[in-house]
Amino acid sequence: MNIILLGPPGAGKGTQAKILAKKFKIPQISTGDILRGAVKDQTPMGIKAKGFMDAGALVPDSVVVGIVEERLAKEDCFDGFILDGFPRTVAQADALKEMLVSHGKAVEHVISVDVNKEELLQRITGRRTCKGCGRGYHTVFDPPRVDDKCDECGDGLYQRDDDSEETMRKRLDVYEEQTAPLVTYYSNESLLRSIRGTGSIEEIQQAILRILEGVRE
Ligand code: AP5
Repeated sequence: MNIILLGPPGAGKGTQAKILAKKFKIPQISTGDILRGAVKDQTPMGIKAKGFMDAGALVPDSVVVGIVEERLAKEDCFDGFILDGFPRTVAQADALKEMLVSHGKAVEHVISVDVNKEELLQRITGRRTCKGCGRGYHTVFDPPRVDDKCDECGDGLYQRDDDSEETMRKRLDVYEEQTAPLVTYYSNESLLRSIRGTGSIEEIQQAILRILEGVRE
């Protein structure tokens, strides 16, 4: 099952992708997570990407396309994958199509998660992530049992550098300008299904599963 989760920053792509990955036993491929890992490890790619990410801008297409191409070639992607945060431009979508075709594959489902701007801002400014296992939390909507400690591994939580209100507003503008055109792109390919991304995490998961129904289990 080859799935793309599309949506603005804070729409819940990462949250839903993690649940789907466990359920279907296919990997979640988050270009944001891969880039943050490279920034943390101070690799040449991470050093280059950091400036774009901190400014709320997109990292150049050539860099992210290379990351995804390398990741999709790994064995754990042979039975399917969930792309979270990629593609984000028409050029990335074209490159994805080309790389999948060359392996006899194709995108099967594109699920667009729609959330209003006010809620996106609330979600992003309250987001916290575990330093150890990467599990996501929200200070109000999905808090840990003990303040600033991960329920699963007990490590501390941190706030992403690009989750300030100012950077978030820039990220939303970038989404509208560069990523929203993919809704039409995938709609024209008859692959797009849109869902309302407000409601509980479980309700949204059920809405996604209803779309995937017929191909699940
Ligand atoms: P990336 O990491 O991909 O960030 P994003 O797309 O901006 O998405 P987010 O991770 O902010 O949100 P999400 O939709 O995953 O929401 P989440 O589930 O965490 O990219 C970061 C940067 O990397 C980019 O700005 C760019 O610079 C670069 N980059 C990455 N990919 C790139 C690409 N392809 N091309 C170029 N550059 C690229 O949820 C958010 C919060 O809400 C959490 O706290 C969560 O607990 C909470 N929440 C989730 N669901 C619900 C719910 N139903 N109700 C209430 N709260 C909820």
